Amino acid sequence: MKLVSLILAAGQGTRMKSDVPKVLHTLLGRPLIAYAIETARALTGVPPVIVVGYGAEAVQRAAGDQAIYVLQVEQRGTGHAVLQARGVLAGQSDLVLVMYADMPLLTVETLQRLVCRQQENPGPITLLTLWDDNPRGFGRVIRNGSGAVVQIVEEADATPEQLAVRELNAGVYCFDACWLWANVANIPLNPVKQEYYLTDLIAMAVAQGERVDTVTVADPTEALGINTRVHLAEAGRLLRQRINERWMLEGVTIEDPATTYIEPEVIIGRDTLILPNTYLRGRTTIGSRCIIGPNTIIEDSSIGDQCRVTASVVEGAVMEDDSDVGPFGHLRKGARLCRGAHMGNFGEIKNATLGPGAKMGHFSYLGDTEVGAGANIGAGTVTCNYDGVRKHKTFIGAGAFIGSGTMLVAPVRVGDGAKTGAGSVVTRDVPDGTLVYGVPARPHGSVAGGGEQTKQENEADDRTMVAGASGKIGH
Ligand code: UD1
Ligand code: CA
Repeated sequence: MKLVSLILAAGQGTRMKSDVPKVLHTLLGRPLIAYAIETARALTGVPPVIVVGYGAEAVQRAAGDQAIYVLQVEQRGTGHAVLQARGVLAGQSDLVLVMYADMPLLTVETLQRLVCRQQENPGPITLLTLWDDNPRGFGRVIRNGSGAVVQIVEEADATPEQLAVRELNAGVYCFDACWLWANVANIPLNPVKQEYYLTDLIAMAVAQGERVDTVTVADPTEALGINTRVHLAEAGRLLRQRINERWMLEGVTIEDPATTYIEPEVIIGRDTLILPNTYLRGRTTIGSRCIIGPNTIIEDSSIGDQCRVTASVVEGAVMEDDSDVGPFGHLRKGARLCRGAHMGNFGEIKNATLGPGAKMGHFSYLGDTEVGAGANIGAGTVTCNYDGVRKHKTFIGAGAFIGSGTMLVAPVRVGDGAKTGAGSVVTRDVPDGTLVYGVPARPHGSVAGGGEQTKQENEADDRTMVAGASGKIGH
């Protein structure tokens, strides 16, 4: 049987008290609408149709070509929203799954159960219900003496007796397509809210002598609909818990799940330890046997096996096996730590590679730089890569030794096995195996022989210091 899905997302979400459409509020880094689209796609295998209205352009921009859009110009209720999709969907399928866009915890398995039940139902509707002592303003599922569903009553319209009912309408329905498209235009206007309620289709079907079936969610938290920011935080906590539990069952140790924020697309290897207050975001992959955290943010990065990231921020970076960062390091976009490389306290690397086994222990900045294997970057080294207009590259050879406080004024190349003295301002390329120091730095013999600088040379260096540094600053 052919199945299509329809997501209702036109409402403003008044109770969010926001200028941003409700479905664009984010949960673990993604807009609510993304969860609905992903679940719907996983169920049907084809892009869902989304009814957009309030903030339609912004919603469409966020969801992109993952869906087909229908505009509901005025938001006149959930029934009216479904009617807007009739032109696009009528005649296209045997079944229509309708869901609201504000239910990010819904699982594909639950939707599958709903669809299966409707396939067996001779009547036109199967709806998802839940039992919960906290009704959260959900519609009540009203049954007759023999247990058959007769109607859904919205909280605003319910009698005290109906309000006491604890079987609630989750807001997900599987319809026989022909019946839906034949009846959706006949929903009466609700006199209280002046809206067309989709839920009124249940009483309409019953009045036609049709059978309405139900599927109950095993875990009521799946049906959490987000109407307020309190619900958003609650859903965030539940979703994090679900993700954390999944990784713990896969062999990842999470010391404090309550303060561990792992986004849905992250992948983690076994025997990795995640310490408290850690955020793993975006498309991040972490290998096995790593120690991550505490107090760490890793976003869109790839971390190898046996890596360690302590109290640091890693964004758009690659760390190969056995490399480590922190405490208090910042790897920015395009940073790469090769196998066994180390970046210690207060280091920052942007668009730069620290070669295999290279070390950069203390408060240094490398931008647009390539560092060879086994090089040592002394404390306070800075690549002066930005001249105020353009960025320039720095190359540091394998086994080079950059003395503390060296300024490397790019573009510049320091050869393999070369050394710079403490406080050097390097403005010219340094040949392999050569020692330079001073301001500006000059060769003073080979690394093996060391070098001597005369008093006059030192004075000359002092005079050219400003020009030598040429105003380049790290950026
Ligand atoms: C709805 C149900 C209620 C159910 C609850 C579950 C109705 C009348 N009530 O109530 O029985 O228990 O969901 O969460 O359906 N929307 C549109 N166009 C509109 C109005 C709404 O697209 O004109 C969309 C909203 O963007 C939202 C969804 O429909 O994604 C549900 O609307 P909402 O106002 O949140 O309905 P509830 O009052 O929560
Ligand atoms: Ca809702």
